[in-house]
Amino acid sequence: MSILVTGGAGFIGSNFIHKWLECTNEKVINLDKLTYAGNLENLSSQASNPHYQFQEGDITNSALVGSLLAQFRPRAVLNFAAESHVDRSISAPGQFIETNIVGTYRLIEATRQYWDPLSAEEKDSFRFLHVSTDEVYGSLLPDDAAFTENHRYEPNSPYSASKASSDHLVRAYHATYGLPVLTTNCSNNYGPYQFPEKLIPLCIHNALTAKPLPIYGDGSQVRDWLFVRDHCSAIEKVLHEGSPGEVYNVGGFNEIKNIDVVKNLCTILDEEVPRQDGKSYHSQIIFIEDRPGHDRRYAVDASKIGNELNWKPEETFETGIRQTVRWYLENQKWVENVVSGEYRNWVENQYDK
Ligand code: NAD
Ligand code: TYD
Repeated sequence: MSILVTGGAGFIGSNFIHKWLECTNEKVINLDKLTYAGNLENLSSQASNPHYQFQEGDITNSALVGSLLAQFRPRAVLNFAAESHVDRSISAPGQFIETNIVGTYRLIEATRQYWDPLSAEEKDSFRFLHVSTDEVYGSLLPDDAAFTENHRYEPNSPYSASKASSDHLVRAYHATYGLPVLTTNCSNNYGPYQFPEKLIPLCIHNALTAKPLPIYGDGSQVRDWLFVRDHCSAIEKVLHEGSPGEVYNVGGFNEIKNIDVVKNLCTILDEEVPRQDGKSYHSQIIFIEDRPGHDRRYAVDASKIGNELNWKPEETFETGIRQTVRWYLENQKWVENVVSGEYRNWVENQYDK
């Protein structure tokens, strides 16, 4: 038995693979293109694990996906691969269309071709799990109810529009072909191995290197933060117990304004690594021009996955953010390698040694 994970060298995918291999001996094949966001160093401790196999490649490459499916005959495909950064989607949307829309189409179509001739029993137990985002639902007003699975799709950035499109394709493959698909729409994640372009790792890195902590606009935008390993446990739950064709919203029950997230980080850093000049990291906060089309508020109603699959997050924001800050403090070499681009040479360096 095996599973095929796409995008496993990124932030959430690598956390998922670590968690999976801690709990089971079922083989994981990781197909990843190694874009700027893909970092094999995230999985260096698994490199010699016989239950783990890496394959460099693109989900838009139907022939490669088809040959991996034929070779490994996985019982599930989990699609984490995506372009994931909203700001990059604003300055260069093309790759988001290519990977998130065309890539999801090619991946699910190759999966359908593999799945179709399986025995009735194998077809029934197979799963295609698509990892998506709450951003497809658009922006909430302060008093609006949190997003349920029935909330209208109203994406506002090229990123969220491309993810919305991929969700619709996945849904259509269930309705049209009966492919047993599952979709998860999750809120903002934080935790180890997150690329330091996203708010939390960016601010930790900037704080420690005496750079400004840039807050877009007035910092009053709200996100619902979830510790990454809790997202991974939700994905496992949905994979094993979710009903084919269903969508599950995943959230952290942690609605926090951006400015409060950053102030919280500063307070923790003041305790863990006080600045040598005796000042607080709060003094590094600056307000800069807002992101175009910046969604004001995301909030996820995760009651369906809670009631039907008995999932709930283990970490509160307080425990999760403390662990996260400590991880970045203990792994500053990882951050340095990412920021300097050295992580791209990880494979050569590792094997040269
Ligand atoms: P990430 O940017 O850290 O990692 C993406 C990974 O996909 C990288 O390893 C990259 O090399 C790989 N990849 C990109 N294009 C590829 C292609 N064409 N073929 C194969 N591999 C490719 O992203 P992440 O934060 O780990 O997000 C993973 C998934 O979860 C994405 O689908 C994202 O939309 C979704 N998601 C993310 C969050 C979040 O807060 N980070 C929240 C909800 C949902
Ligand atoms: P981000 O981590 O990019 O995730 P997303 O855009 O997918 O929610 O941003 C989280 C929030 O933080 C978002 O409202 C934008 C804001 N933000 C800043 O204020 N400053 C920054 O430097 C970054 C990267 C994000």
